Amino acid sequence: MKIRTDIAHQQCIHPECEATFDVAEPLFECPKCAHLLDVRYNWSKAALPRRLKDFEAKWARQDDPLAFSGVWRFHELIPFAAREHVITVGEGRTILQRADRVGPYVGLAPGRLFLQYEGLNPSGSFKDNGMTAAFTHAHRAGAKRAICASTGNTSASVALYSAVDGRIPAVVLVGSGKIAYGKLAQALDYGVRVLQVEGDFDACMHRVKEVARKLRIYLMNSLNPFRLEGQKTIMYRILEGLAWEPPDWIVVPGGNLGNSSAFGKAFHELQEVGLMKRVPRLAVINAAGADTLARIVNEEKIRWDDGRMDEARVARFYERMNAEHRRAKTLASAIEINRPVNLAKCLRALEWTDGVVETVTDQEILDAKAQVGAGGFGCEPASAASVAGARKLRAAGIIEKSDRVACVLTGHALKDPNVTVAYHSLEAAALAEKYADYGVGGAPNANRPIQVPDDLEKIIAAIQA
Ligand code: F0G
Repeated sequence: MKIRTDIAHQQCIHPECEATFDVAEPLFECPKCAHLLDVRYNWSKAALPRRLKDFEAKWARQDDPLAFSGVWRFHELIPFAAREHVITVGEGRTILQRADRVGPYVGLAPGRLFLQYEGLNPSGSFKDNGMTAAFTHAHRAGAKRAICASTGNTSASVALYSAVDGRIPAVVLVGSGKIAYGKLAQALDYGVRVLQVEGDFDACMHRVKEVARKLRIYLMNSLNPFRLEGQKTIMYRILEGLAWEPPDWIVVPGGNLGNSSAFGKAFHELQEVGLMKRVPRLAVINAAGADTLARIVNEEKIRWDDGRMDEARVARFYERMNAEHRRAKTLASAIEINRPVNLAKCLRALEWTDGVVETVTDQEILDAKAQVGAGGFGCEPASAASVAGARKLRAAGIIEKSDRVACVLTGHALKDPNVTVAYHSLEAAALAEKYADYGVGGAPNANRPIQVPDDLEKIIAAIQA
C-alpha cells in the first residue's frame, strides 16, 4: 500500500484495492475498482489540539471565518484544504438542545435526550456542513460546474453555495413531484438550473453519475468523500455540547447514508489519534417504505466484516428489489431512497460503533414529528425518524432509560409545511384518505386549528373552551 507523504490523500475503501489518489483530484469513486473513496490524513500530533476541549477557545474569535464556522472551527480534524481555499457562509453554528419536553415521549429519564438542530443551518439542513467542504474542494480541483441529484436538501444547499460563491454554476436533478416545496423553492430562488426528472431519487442518482462522468461536472452528492469530511463536524459539536463526554447513542435518519458514514468516521478517527476512548453507538433509522439498510443488516445479516462485505449478496438483493419493482415510498421524502450510495461505508460505521438499524412507519414519523414540534423547535418528517426510532429502540430495551441519547434533527420544520399542516388540520378520516398509500390512519398528536366566525362572542368562547 502506497502512503502519500502530504497531509491528505484519497483512498479506495476496498481492502484489496486501497489505491491512493491526490487530494486535489475530483473523484467520486475509485477509478480502478469503482468502490467508494475516503479522505485519509497523515495525522501530525503537532497540528492537532492536545485535547478536544481546546477547540472551545475558537468561539471567542468571531472575526475569523475559520473560527465562526461550526465546520471549520474543527479544521485540524478536516485538514485537507489550506485556510485561504475555504468557502464558508458560517454553516454549522448549530446547537445541541437538552430536550426534556420530548424525553418522556422517547421514554428517557430527564436530562437524557438531546436534539442536535441541524435545521438551523443557512439552507435549513445538515447538508451545509458537507457542502462547505465540497465547494472548498471543488475550487481546489478546478471545477467549472457542479451537479447533484437530490430529494431536496442537497439541491437547496448546492444552490445556496453556488449562489453565494458565484464561480461554480450548478445543475440539480430532482424527481418530478418528489420534493417538498420548501426545498424546491430554495433551489429555484437561489438560481441554479433545476431539472425535474420523470423518476425518483434513485433514478436521478443513477443519471447524475452518468452525466458527471460524461460531462466532467463536479459531483456534489455524498459519494463525494469531501462532503462527508464536513459532516463529521456534526459529531464534534454534539460532543462539545456534552462537555466532550460521549453520549451512549447517536440516532440519525438513514437515506443515502452519508451522515451515518461520516459520523462513524469521525469517531473512528478521534480514537485513532487518541482524542477519544469510548465511542457512542450509532442507530440508523430507515423509513419503513425505504428500508434497504434495515433489510440488508437485520434480515440479510450482511456486514462490513472488516472490508470483506459480501457484495454478491448485496447485488442479488438489488436484483430481487428490481424484479419485485420495489420503489421507495415514504412521506419522509428526504429519505425516500432505496439504493443508498454509501451502503458500504455505513456498514463500516455500524461495525466501528457497534451500531444498530431500525425502521419506523410514516405514522410513527408524523406522530414523533408533532412531539418534536411541541417541544419547541420542529423538524421535517425525515428528521423525526430519529426521534421515532429512539422511542422504538427504547421500547425494545435496546436503549436504556438512563442512556444519554442525541438525535440528529437533519432538516428545518419549514422545509415541508404541507405534511405538517395536513397532520394538524385534517380530520382522521380525511388524513387517512389523503395518505392512504402511506398507511397513515390518524393524528393522535395533532394541534387542531379551530374555525370560528368573525364574531367576538364566538371568538371568546373558542378561546375559553
Ligand atoms: N434527513 C434529511 C432532512 C435529508 O435531507 C436527508 C438526505 C437525510 C436525512 C438522509 O441523510 O443521505 O446522509 O442518509 N437528503 C438527501 C438530499 C438525499 O438529496 O437532500 P443521508
